Amino acid sequence: MRLGILGGGQLAWMLAQAAEPLGVSVAVLDPSPDAAAGRIAEHVAAAYDDLAGLDAVSAGADVVTYEFENIPAAAVARLAALGVTVLPLPASLTTTQDRAREKELMRGLGIHVAPYALIDAPADAAAALTQVGAPGILKTRRLGYDGKGQVRVATAADLPAAIRELGGTDLIYEGLVAFTRELSVVVARGTDGSLVAYPPVENEHRDGILSCTVAPAPALPPAQAEAAQAIGFAVAEALGHIGVLCVELFDTPDGIVANEIAPRVHNSGHWSIEGAVTSQFANHVRGVLGLPLGDPSARGVAAMVNIVGTEPELAALLAISGASVHTYGKAPRPGRKLGHVTLVAESSAALAAPLAQARALCAAAWDA
Ligand SMILES: Nc1ncnc2c1ncn2[C@@H]1O[C@H](COP(=O)(O)OP(=O)(O)O)[C@@H](O)[C@H]1O
Ligand SMILES: [Mg+2]
Repeated sequence: MRLGILGGGQLAWMLAQAAEPLGVSVAVLDPSPDAAAGRIAEHVAAAYDDLAGLDAVSAGADVVTYEFENIPAAAVARLAALGVTVLPLPASLTTTQDRAREKELMRGLGIHVAPYALIDAPADAAAALTQVGAPGILKTRRLGYDGKGQVRVATAADLPAAIRELGGTDLIYEGLVAFTRELSVVVARGTDGSLVAYPPVENEHRDGILSCTVAPAPALPPAQAEAAQAIGFAVAEALGHIGVLCVELFDTPDGIVANEIAPRVHNSGHWSIEGAVTSQFANHVRGVLGLPLGDPSARGVAAMVNIVGTEPELAALLAISGASVHTYGKAPRPGRKLGHVTLVAESSAALAAPLAQARALCAAAWDA
């Protein structure tokens, strides 16, 4: 079998790693000449809306999938015209490319989301404040990631300037959720509608970027874990999603509040390569190719620490007990994800010391 992937970054690289033992060959489309996945997959170096590039990445492919949600509509249309099966289906993309549609979908499913109002002109500020109040966060509806395209609004008086800063239109203003911690849940859905959910995980961010994930989320009551998984299932079913999907969540004293949906493998699921029976990458490959999904159960406990900005010394990371290092081969740059370290242990107690060591090394490299 053969899989095409739109995007050739680290997510595509890890998808290709998961595809390889199944005998599935992979081609990726990515304009960057040094795309991470190019190390192990056929790399078509062209823009995402380049017709010849789309033809090449899909040639002979059973299915084309993607590693990011901001696929140009023109690319999806071209692949459809070629008769290529693109999975997840377009509904997953169109909904998750827009924070407003995403929230509307979840609210309609009875999932709690932050109060929000849409802003399409500076004059919408007053109504948004009446509806949502302050403090809040103003976000672009589209194309935001890693905290980009967002402005914190401390008081009502700050909203007009924030609206100007973000271009005045196509914005969403959200009330600030008073969360105790951030969680996420990764689920996979097969072409036959079968569903599996990974244990919900706890995420810590720094400068808007994921810094650390602990899996399963420590001390999450079983009812809360089930509620988080039910949110993932409901979203996947409502979208008719095929493959892996992640929902970012806030843990609050009043229960779980959903933040955003990623219709793809997610950074908070990287721990599953070593920490789960079947990784999120293997399950995405299986899901989109119509193969049976694998067991998402955790094997013991795991943590993932992102390598951001610069890389710590490899030998120092490898000296940590239970550590596996994944480096993406990307040039260092402030705020850029360059790799991650996964730590697995038999118990939370056994995980604590290695996790602290990995965090210290990666934090120093992030600051360097
Ligand atoms: N409504 C909110 N209330 C509180 N914190 C929020 C809210 N929205 C976003 N955040 C914080 O900002 C981070 C990034 O926002 P998010 O919506 O996930 O955008 P991105 O696409 O950049 O990941 C979240 O992980 C969370 O820490
Ligand atoms: Mg997010």
